Amino acid sequence: MLIGLLKEGESENRVALLPEIVSNLTKRKVEVLVEIGAGESALATDAAYKEAGATVSPREEVLKKADFLIGIQPPDKRLVEALDQSKMWLSQYNPMWNTDLVKQFVSKGITTFSMDTIPRSTRGQAMDVLSSQATVAGYKAVLEAAFTLPSFFPMFMTAAGTIRPATVLVLGAGVAGLQAIAIARKLGAQVQAFDVRSAVKEEVMSLGARFIEVEGAKEDAAAGGYAVEQTDEFKQKQQQAINDHAAKASVVICTAQIPGRKAPLLLPKEAVAAMKPGSVIIDLAASTGGNCELTQDNKTVVEHGVTIIGQSNYPSLMPADASKMFGKNILNFLELLFNEEGEFNLNFEDDIIKGTCITHGGEIINERVKSVVQS
Ligand code: NAI
Repeated sequence: MLIGLLKEGESENRVALLPEIVSNLTKRKVEVLVEIGAGESALATDAAYKEAGATVSPREEVLKKADFLIGIQPPDKRLVEALDQSKMWLSQYNPMWNTDLVKQFVSKGITTFSMDTIPRSTRGQAMDVLSSQATVAGYKAVLEAAFTLPSFFPMFMTAAGTIRPATVLVLGAGVAGLQAIAIARKLGAQVQAFDVRSAVKEEVMSLGARFIEVEGAKEDAAAGGYAVEQTDEFKQKQQQAINDHAAKASVVICTAQIPGRKAPLLLPKEAVAAMKPGSVIIDLAASTGGNCELTQDNKTVVEHGVTIIGQSNYPSLMPADASKMFGKNILNFLELLFNEEGEFNLNFEDDIIKGTCITHGGEIINERVKSVVQS
């Protein structure tokens, strides 16, 4: 089995496998073909890949010879069109959202894996790219907010007067939200957080932030640790609480999501208009519509004096460590697919392999993706 590592498009600086991961694979007798310049923007040279035991080749050769293509972003339609049935594809291709791509893979009979569908179980944690990359996003979001805000984050008592600490409101306390809370606290801000899952209250408080409680949230243990759609009555109560807290905050970090759905709208334009001029909103959910009504995907806009940043790919802005974490997640997953002798085994008895395999033999394997695509 020959693995092919592709160079990402222009807007992506990460690479799916750094040389240190490739070296791990080649030691397991898995051959790796790397596209020329694949690691360039993540500071990994072609020479380092060669040293790790890979062969470095032009893109056409990687696409032609490799059996199992690996990348980060979803492939474009034309690339999939050119692939034949014997190929396998692995990346983070958001199949619950990119349903046309799923259908194309099915019609071509290509076996695909999407790293963003790794089950969020204890065993899956080491392979969970959503968590590793959201950690990067939560960190970067706070740094960007601090950089953009016209005031300090920490409190200062100086001869030139006392500076009050910034108040940061974090909406959604999942992986990105918790990371954002931790970094904002480290920078000395006062932090408040809101989430519909009561299970996160303790984590939020242990990071030194205040948890905003709104009673009556719907929770479902069967949702695998994710949030579920809320009732209209709860949404109204929640909206009031968010509006009140947003009006007093200088920074709002939006991270709320329900997988496979449009991002919940938590900051309507009226709430933004009521915020203090100079405040900053970082909307991590920009690519799925945003938690803020005024967010524009991959743009920074100023509305009512509030700067709203809709950067959708913070991990790409920190390509070295983001690639390191992404690649380690992939390696842990590949270890389920390849044995010590480098032999490939697609074992659907393993819930992680079954959950991550989206298409195989002209069918959709992942049950959640199947129900979304067929609905
Ligand atoms: P997660 O699923 O771990 O956390 C989302 C949290 O939102 C959960 O705790 C959930 O309970 C909460 N939530 C859902 N509905 C809510 C509501 N109505 N009100 C309050 N809280 C609600 O997700 P993760 O991994 O932390 O990602 C967060 C967001 O960041 C996602 O939209 C993801 O796509 C995005 N993201 C953005 C990146 C960027 O560079 N902009 C990079 C990585 C992730």
